[in-house]
Amino acid sequence: MNESDTLAIIKPDAFGSGKSGRIIAHLEAAGFQVVAARVSRLSRTEAEAFYAVHRVRPFFGSLVEFMTSGPCMPLLLRRADAVPHLRQVIGATDPAEADEGTVRALYAESKERNAIHASDSPENSDIEIAFFFTGAERLQG
Ligand code: CMP
Repeated sequence: MNESDTLAIIKPDAFGSGKSGRIIAHLEAAGFQVVAARVSRLSRTEAEAFYAVHRVRPFFGSLVEFMTSGPCMPLLLRRADAVPHLRQVIGATDPAEADEGTVRALYAESKERNAIHASDSPENSDIEIAFFFTGAERLQG
């Protein structure tokens, strides 16, 4: 497990409305290095697999619809204690509950269309990074 790497996804709401540049600048100002990045249009199968842990939740169908509705931008991010720091910088899932100045408070529309995803544990960050990036990309930076 690598405690200094984590995965973020700039979601279709934020990417499609031209907020990715401001969000990346915000993350860099918080000390994250962008080690790898791509623009990806998730298929239904990919979105269902990525969010498999939420399969039984009532919002699962809607979440998959949203995540496949347009391109998103997965980012491999690096800094010390990456997972907890990124969770702090992005704020609560619901932008109405996110602390002032966090990415979601600034850029999210709603609990579902909430601008950005971040891995919730170092174990999951390993799995989520491998979902989008190769081992070679991970060695960069
Ligand atoms: P994310 O951090 O990507 O992890 C799961 C996502 O499901 C979450 O952000 C939200 O986009 C979405 N989500 C979580 N809870 C709800 C909810 N109660 N209603 C709608 N969407 C939700």
